[in-house]
Amino acid sequence: MVVSSGNTAIPGFPAHVDIVDVGPRDGLQSEGAWISTEQKIELVNGLIDAGLRHLEVTSFVSPRAVPQMKDAAEVLAGIDRSKGAVLTALVPNAKGAERAVEAGVDAMVVFMSASESHNLKNVNRTREASLDGFRNICRIAEPAGIQVFGAIATAFGCPFEGNVAAEEVVDVARAYRDMGITKISLGDTTGMATPPIVRERCQALKTHVPEADIALHFHNTRGVGLACVYTGLLEGITRYEASIGGLGGCPFAPKATGNICTEDLVYMLHESGVATGIDLDRLIAVSRRTEEMIGRSLPGQVMKAGPRLEIHDLGSVATADARANG
Ligand code: COA
Ligand code: ZN
Repeated sequence: MVVSSGNTAIPGFPAHVDIVDVGPRDGLQSEGAWISTEQKIELVNGLIDAGLRHLEVTSFVSPRAVPQMKDAAEVLAGIDRSKGAVLTALVPNAKGAERAVEAGVDAMVVFMSASESHNLKNVNRTREASLDGFRNICRIAEPAGIQVFGAIATAFGCPFEGNVAAEEVVDVARAYRDMGITKISLGDTTGMATPPIVRERCQALKTHVPEADIALHFHNTRGVGLACVYTGLLEGITRYEASIGGLGGCPFAPKATGNICTEDLVYMLHESGVATGIDLDRLIAVSRRTEEMIGRSLPGQVMKAGPRLEIHDLGSVATADARANG
């Protein structure tokens, strides 16, 4: 099946980007019905087989806060490590860091919100207290040889406060940098990012925290997720987080819906001449399997429509004329 039209690249776009599938964590965390450990492992291994080399596979958070992630260690133990995929997990505190070291993650992701109210809702502490806690996490991760990445939630807007100033995001990124955390993702927890805000935040970080290696994490809540990626590409950002099928939504933010869909993102990138190393056909198969797993249809569009050069039989639909007369 043809997956790319072979169009030449858009001027200014990078030649290659890394995609992080966060579906096993950001996607599954808000599923109410229990997804078995075996199903979670099958999902991650399917994504690795499709070419994903960076996945956020689970979170070592309180099982009372997010029951779906209570089997974090068991999930990690079942994942195929032979292809060298980088497996990360969210870690909120020292207890989570100790569990993550024991389970053998490749990197831990610490997370806090750019806005105080969402941080209080999400992790039950102030931003200052979050930062203090991260210093302890770094002290646990470092001797174990495990990298720490930093995520900034509500980086483009907060459901409780509205606009979030770029300075708030820069402040968190600076604090991360000062702790030695330079892989930083900007999270659009409730889909409030728009192309101009994305551009502004990327430029602010490049200016004020040039050490930051930025990833962008969008939710497609208002339908502009891929437009935000397009803006990120023009800003030279080469790491994007997405969920298989568009699964997802934060349980601690009202009206939060799914991440941008991994296979729709891969489709857009390949059609724009940007390589990802991912096999789109295989990814679509994983997405369909994920729908079976969670028992409902997912928002992803390419898995429904198929690649654009898929040729359909001329007789597969009636002509307009025949329909009118029939
Ligand atoms: N792993 C397992 N259990 C944990 C834990 C962790 N990382 N952190 C805390 N706990 C347990 C404690 O042992 C304690 O259990 P006990 O009551 O049986 O003794 C209980 O959870 C409460 O601990 P406490 O330190 O008081 O935490 P809290 O209730 O203030 O919750 C967080 C703080 C950060 C642990 C919790 O809010 C959380 O896990 N949030 C995650 C939110 C999330 O994943 N959001 C999605 C990302 S957008
Ligand atoms: Zn998210």
